[in-house]
Amino acid sequence: MSNPRRHLLELAPLDATELLHLLDLAESFQDISQRRIKKVPALRGMTVVLLFLEASTRTRTSFELAAKRLSADTLSITGGTSSVVKGETLLDTARNLEAMSPDIIVLRHRHSGSPHLLSRHIDASIVNAGDGGHEHPTQGLLDALTIRQHKRRIEGLKVAIIGDIAHSRVARSNIVCLNRLGAEVVVCGPPTMLPPDIESLGCRATSDRADAVQDADVVMMLRIQKERMTEELFPTDREYAMRFGLDRAALRMAKPDALVMHPGPINRGVEISPEVADGPQSIILDQVANGIAVRMAVLFHCAGGGAQA
Ligand code: NCD
Repeated sequence: MSNPRRHLLELAPLDATELLHLLDLAESFQDISQRRIKKVPALRGMTVVLLFLEASTRTRTSFELAAKRLSADTLSITGGTSSVVKGETLLDTARNLEAMSPDIIVLRHRHSGSPHLLSRHIDASIVNAGDGGHEHPTQGLLDALTIRQHKRRIEGLKVAIIGDIAHSRVARSNIVCLNRLGAEVVVCGPPTMLPPDIESLGCRATSDRADAVQDADVVMMLRIQKERMTEELFPTDREYAMRFGLDRAALRMAKPDALVMHPGPINRGVEISPEVADGPQSIILDQVANGIAVRMAVLFHCAGGGAQA
């Protein structure tokens, strides 16, 4: 592609101006989902392929809705129904798809770097919908948008991200995005779930939940990604919940108006108690709703729409 910004592979290379451009664009798309006819012609005639080779509920459905609300044609291919199960490589699958002239391929894959690989070999714009434990750029953007809408700013906020940091692409995208937008980010988890180099992304790491939650403006909880673990990294779910979970008592250490977030899927009673997940400080479903607007903005941007960031 002549313009490298037509892909969205990761947030790490984007500066604050580019991130804010995407957040503002997302905000401008938000009211479309409130209309009776939830459709604008922005991507009419374009084809968006949703290539999801790893489990997904929220991300896949909201990318599909986002593409449809922009009037694009969508084609959804998921792990179990694709020829990947017959041994076809990702690159071969993508080359075959490319022969059908898609404009954008949205890829979720269990290997870090797979969207980058596609972007080097395929002409379509590539959007990363989560690559292994690396990045989940649209989740980082939708979380930043949700925080900004509730707090009216990001700069100066203390954001605690607690859980399986080592396997979390959500944590990585959030750390780089929120740090670049001026937040103080503290990540917290058992030592076995804190990668040694994590602070180089622009955060502080601790294994003390109280240290992370104390006076936080936002507490973001993450799922333990057992499917990515090759060995046991903590003794039992019960012990994990006691030391790293968020229940009412732990939340009381944060600021009284602290926001509670979670990218989903939630393991109730493990990383978050049901009364906190469903409580008045939880904005988990706002995150889901904002996912559509953010993905509309990203698809629009990658299709060449709007001012360049
Ligand atoms: C996350 C993911 O898949 O990275 N979920 C999501 O996209 N909303 C987090 C997770 O699976 O725990």
